[in-house]
Amino acid sequence: MNIKNYFRLFSINLILLLFVFLASCQKQTRQTILKSPDQKLSIALISVENGKLAYTLKYKSELLIDTSFVGFEFKDQPPLDKNLEIVNVSGSTTDESWEMPWGEQREVRNHYNSLIVEIRETVAPKREFQMEFKLYNDGLGFRYNFSNIPENQETIIMDESTHFKLTGDHQAWWIPGDWDIYEHLYHHSRLSEIDATALQNHNDLAQTYIPENAVNTPVTMKTDAGIYLSFHEANLTDYAGMTIKIDTENFNLVSELVGSDRLGYKVKRVGSFHTPWRTVQVSETAGGLIESNLIVNLNEPNKLGDISWFEPTKYVGIWWDMHLGTKTWDYASTQDMNRHSGEKPHGKHGATTEYAKELIDFASENNIHGILVEGWNTGWEHWIGFEDREGVFDFVTPYPDYDLKEVVRYGKSKGVELIMHHETSAAPRTYDQQLDTAFRLMHSLGIHSVKTGYVGKIIPKGEYHHGQWMVNHYRRVLETAAKYDIAINAHEPIKATGIRRTLPNAISREGLRGQEFNAWASDGGNPPNHLPTVAFTRMLSGPIDYTPGIFNIKLEPYKPNNQVNTTLAQQLALYVIINSPIQMVPDLMDAYKGHPAFQFIRDVAVNWEQTKVLNGEVGEFVTIARQDRDSDNWFLGAITNEDAREIEVDLDFLEAGKTYTARLYLDAEDAHWNNNPTAYIIVNKEVEKGETLKLKLAAGGGAAVSFMLVE
Ligand code: NOJ
Ligand code: CA
Repeated sequence: MNIKNYFRLFSINLILLLFVFLASCQKQTRQTILKSPDQKLSIALISVENGKLAYTLKYKSELLIDTSFVGFEFKDQPPLDKNLEIVNVSGSTTDESWEMPWGEQREVRNHYNSLIVEIRETVAPKREFQMEFKLYNDGLGFRYNFSNIPENQETIIMDESTHFKLTGDHQAWWIPGDWDIYEHLYHHSRLSEIDATALQNHNDLAQTYIPENAVNTPVTMKTDAGIYLSFHEANLTDYAGMTIKIDTENFNLVSELVGSDRLGYKVKRVGSFHTPWRTVQVSETAGGLIESNLIVNLNEPNKLGDISWFEPTKYVGIWWDMHLGTKTWDYASTQDMNRHSGEKPHGKHGATTEYAKELIDFASENNIHGILVEGWNTGWEHWIGFEDREGVFDFVTPYPDYDLKEVVRYGKSKGVELIMHHETSAAPRTYDQQLDTAFRLMHSLGIHSVKTGYVGKIIPKGEYHHGQWMVNHYRRVLETAAKYDIAINAHEPIKATGIRRTLPNAISREGLRGQEFNAWASDGGNPPNHLPTVAFTRMLSGPIDYTPGIFNIKLEPYKPNNQVNTTLAQQLALYVIINSPIQMVPDLMDAYKGHPAFQFIRDVAVNWEQTKVLNGEVGEFVTIARQDRDSDNWFLGAITNEDAREIEVDLDFLEAGKTYTARLYLDAEDAHWNNNPTAYIIVNKEVEKGETLKLKLAAGGGAAVSFMLVE
């Protein structure tokens, strides 16, 4: 222990750092206590029985995480989980702020107390590592640092055992710990009732692999005392994604890293390394979880500098047509196609120059500055259902009816930039080979973003979307893209872990059941409680490309057996609820043309000065207000599950002494997500700070409000 540091910390009274040596029953227990800046959260580090190391986490006087052991299993080494001693502890305080180049708020405060604990084995091979803790007012992050490993030495991790021993049978909102995809519905149950493996082989998914009764993160919980917790990870770099294995009896949860059948291990590192942060967000309100910046704060500062080449935007696309089945990605039918030739078109191809231009005109007339065109490049005839997908997609060759350069030129002339599309069909090696060529083409055309996709089982066989090999692929794509001033919106991605702070060209991603499930899922689509759950689970990890804004709720006449399970007003509210610097305006143009409610989509911003979560309960409802970064206008969204409700919203967020024209897009009296989803009303009124708005939300409904400052 560094004595000088010890006294300095005490003198500034920010950290209570305590060593307690208790000689009880031959065992020595040594405790180090670290408190959050507001003193409400505290962790203790304990070494007990045979030098096993554990931590606990408390919120005020409530124990949230009881004695939880940590350890690693390495290849060709004894496990590293006992005979450990703490050899040094040092603490410090950080209070700084940084700016998001785009996002849910401009300024972010990064305020925490930290502890670095140096640990050594007391017996051979006397390995050393550190546990690093950062305790914030809104939660805990900790990681393991292996900093003394020689430069070329390989470390092979067979598994990491970070326990989270919970203190009760909490309510949990979870998706299964699928190694391949996060596109599952959220389940709400007690921990004791979680049965994740039953959710294997989902009909609508091209890949699922759920080897254990584990859940993916973020997983959100509520204790019976009313504390909200969410478990996740931050800065997932060169490591396997973490799922959390559920112990339905003792609630002693444990990390379960995603593996590789091909390689036979979970993680391989060369030289010194540290793990991702294991994170626990803690809040007395559900909304506090959304307002927390813990995940981004635990990442490194921006490495890209100025990325003003990326501009947050709404975007239209040649996309929903394919999900509705009115158009196709492919140009010819499979039988008629040699892999790369483009003969015998079947006439349903969506990505034509003409259609793209029509959409560009529509976008430019409606304050929308992006257009996504899917199915523009050769290869789609051998997409889903084909085993041999290596070398199929080509990311530079358009189909004969699509003039890429002309679409780009036309778009630019109208202030609408093309968003490129690269569906890799989960053949990342093919994509890797073409990355530079593909990005160079984009760069030469002045295209600054691409939606990538990884539908299907990963080739080579035995790799999973969330394993280390793919984590590294996704990162390579991001880093390579950055060199060409290109931003990435990944579908079938690795989960967000706050990397957007370091590499802000990670603009958005899927990683959940998006709107598309409503067009074709055989289980009836996303139920009304989906988004009120997503806001408190998936959204805690980062921006979501959900594609809100479907107006033709019943999908008539295209999909008589499918529908969107919300009201139209909720579709509007989602532009505010869902955080993303790119928001699609996905429905067919006819659904919007001449529709009075489309004014909200025209007006709504995508980049925010600040965000306030005004109320909410996980899976039930949530109201969020966000201030536009480019004006003084505010936007508000409220959504509810299948229960209708009335909420009161205090307009305290508005600026004092100013008047705003509020335009409220509300569910009509008789609106209902299933029986009458498109019944809405628009109410205009002038409002000021301090007033209260009463909003009636229909079952599966919502409310969207724009507050335009009266100059
Ligand atoms: C799945 C994506 O989620 C969807 O948005 C896209 O249209 C298809 N893959 C094709 O890439
Ligand atoms: Ca998808």
